[in-house]
Amino acid sequence: MALKAKPQEDFGHNLDEFLKLISEKTKLIFIANPNNPTGNLIEKSKISAFLSKVPKHILIVLDEAYDEYLRDEDKSIAFSWLAEYKNLLISRSFSKAHGLAGLRIGYGVGSKEVINLMNRVRQPFNVNSIAQTAAIASLDDDDFIIKSRLINDQGRLQLEEVFNELKIEYIPSYGNFISFNLGDETKAMMYYQHLLKNGVIVRPIQNYEMPSWLRVSIGLKDENNTFIKYLKSFT
Ligand SMILES: Cc1ncc(COP(=O)(O)O)c(C=O)c1O
Repeated sequence: MALKAKPQEDFGHNLDEFLKLISEKTKLIFIANPNNPTGNLIEKSKISAFLSKVPKHILIVLDEAYDEYLRDEDKSIAFSWLAEYKNLLISRSFSKAHGLAGLRIGYGVGSKEVINLMNRVRQPFNVNSIAQTAAIASLDDDDFIIKSRLINDQGRLQLEEVFNELKIEYIPSYGNFISFNLGDETKAMMYYQHLLKNGVIVRPIQNYEMPSWLRVSIGLKDENNTFIKYLKSFT
């Protein structure tokens, strides 16, 4: 019989429905929080309740690439769950708020057992020493993170204001991007081409079953203004 679970709801995860989809074949559950491309955030209490219900032989990967952008009260506390859940792996990236995307480096934190297994399949020479040195230094660069977060918060407001003004639907985002809805796929692709022609690269997200939506990255004020200029010139 087909499962009638709806693991996605209001562009977010429905973890109760995830539980219904677990079968003897399930080996890994991957949750990006905040999520991409929707930018939604799952409450901490929902994740911890979920962890307590998932069978312990299933690996749960919590991808927290955007955590540094969150307000203090929203920030993840998943590291504190690691002592209890050996089947939890938390991944973080240096590509977002740390601003080191070009160095191709991130990290995972998990139990000895899980890290040991990952080490066995890890490719040799996968992260170079310059990237490692820069990444480690950036962990202490609180000022940079504060600045990244501030620029992102201001940019988000700047873009939200314009979407509101133009009556374009968007999903309130906890990440460094916003997905917005142009109503239908043809219109979305027209906007995409128009922006591209003018040097603004946004992302069509049909492959997430959101064909009428585009995702724009939040940039610096001037970059956002360029996006806004070409968005407005087409509406
Ligand atoms: C949710 C999420 N996780 C991880 C990544 C990967 O980032 P990177 O491979 O640059 O570390 C991305 C990138 O867009 C992302 O959106």
